[in-house]
Amino acid sequence: MITNTGSEATPRLTVVGTGYLGATHAICMAVLGYEVLGVDVDAAKIERLAAGEVPFFEPGLPELLAKALASGRLRFTTSFAEAADFGDVHFICVGTPQRKGSYAADLTYVDSAVTELARHLHRRTLVVGKSTVPIGTAARLTALVQREAPAGDLVELAWNPEFLREGFAVEDTMNPDRLVFGVTSAWAEGQLRAAFAPVLAQGTPAVVTDLATAELVKVAANSFLATKISYINAMAEICEGTGADVHDLARALAYDERIGGRFLKPGLGFGGGCLPKDLRAFIHRAEELNVGQSVAFLREIDAINLRRRSRTVDVVRELAGGELSGVRIAALGAAFKPNSDDIRDAPALDVARTLHRAGAVVRVFDPAAMDNARIAYPDLHYTASAADAARDADVIVLLTEWDEFRELDPQTLGAVVAHRRIVDSRHALDPAQWRDAGWTFRELGQPQPAEVAPALS
Ligand code: UDX
Repeated sequence: MITNTGSEATPRLTVVGTGYLGATHAICMAVLGYEVLGVDVDAAKIERLAAGEVPFFEPGLPELLAKALASGRLRFTTSFAEAADFGDVHFICVGTPQRKGSYAADLTYVDSAVTELARHLHRRTLVVGKSTVPIGTAARLTALVQREAPAGDLVELAWNPEFLREGFAVEDTMNPDRLVFGVTSAWAEGQLRAAFAPVLAQGTPAVVTDLATAELVKVAANSFLATKISYINAMAEICEGTGADVHDLARALAYDERIGGRFLKPGLGFGGGCLPKDLRAFIHRAEELNVGQSVAFLREIDAINLRRRSRTVDVVRELAGGELSGVRIAALGAAFKPNSDDIRDAPALDVARTLHRAGAVVRVFDPAAMDNARIAYPDLHYTASAADAARDADVIVLLTEWDEFRELDPQTLGAVVAHRRIVDSRHALDPAQWRDAGWTFRELGQPQPAEVAPALS
């Protein structure tokens, strides 16, 4: 907890955009001791947050929201004028989704948030971008802010990328691996240091750099993580063609500390609101800047990732006897990863929809993402439990590795299905346990005997 020693040492913070990133940031900063005002154009969202309700699934966050509200340090508003009046440091946390029909990032929300805020800035303040943006955005926004703000160039812009993972958002915000401050003046750096004082005090390293580098750190980090996942998934393809075992391969590689085991889990690949669209926006921006060749390999990373989805569909089809039409399939999982209700670019739902389009009768169950899935894809069938989804199923396909699915009992489930056939696309289950219970068990990266390449003569 910081000690309140006056507005210079302890800036008052606003957080513009109270989605995943912004709500977490606002709540955590208030818990750390700052006076925080959360701002959003969505009045319903603001009402829910102000009433103590986190509008998305994130372990630990509801408790912290209650604590922050009770402290009196966290409030919410839809008024940019109020925010500008209140804040010394303004964090921009709005979304930058993929633009429809293009690889580019859609900067509409960033531009309008910054413009709306700037119009009310009458004194020296720092506007800090946290959203993931194409390189060069911060420089453009600096000009925009200083043009729109009554205080003109007394308003400065900085970039402070955010690396939080869904499911670990609180931990990643309170104890980040590093802080990155993209600034153009010592004053801006000082403001950021004051705005993160408790985090810095616990020894978190800070990289102070220019605006473009700060923007690049984020997309470079996400592209690297995506590359690591697609690398092991490319090895899974090799395994499928050669009879090697990707699970053991990944374990053996992970013991090399230079490689490490994190983000080396083979399976259905990456999805979510960040990795896929950040990768594509990076490719698009690099091409615009005539350095596209340097990241041309990222197109392949994306392609490998998408091939995992079609491979999963193929394995389900094989298991169903070569034809999907009329086949009853239990799809376990909808969220893009466990401990999340986020279905943005979720590999699980992509597979479920492809199976559905191929004529299968797909019943989906997910422990947290049902409401979101139902709204987005009303044409799929949804059930109240994994067992309900599995009832009379010809094939079960596990698509998101929730603990609840890891704990499924093969005998109990075996009693309700039509056929004991399961595809584990996430390496979540113990194959021996399921095979012993009479299941035909398939994983990605582990070929059937018929697929193994012929022996060398
Ligand atoms: C990611 C980054 O990790 C985070 O730093 C950034 O701020 C936002 O994007 P997030 O989208 O929450 O975070 O999910 P993450 O835990 O990184 O997983 C991304 C996807 O990769 C998931 O679909 C997950 O299932 C998949 N994944 C992850 C794998 O397939 N294999 C792995 O080894 C790790």
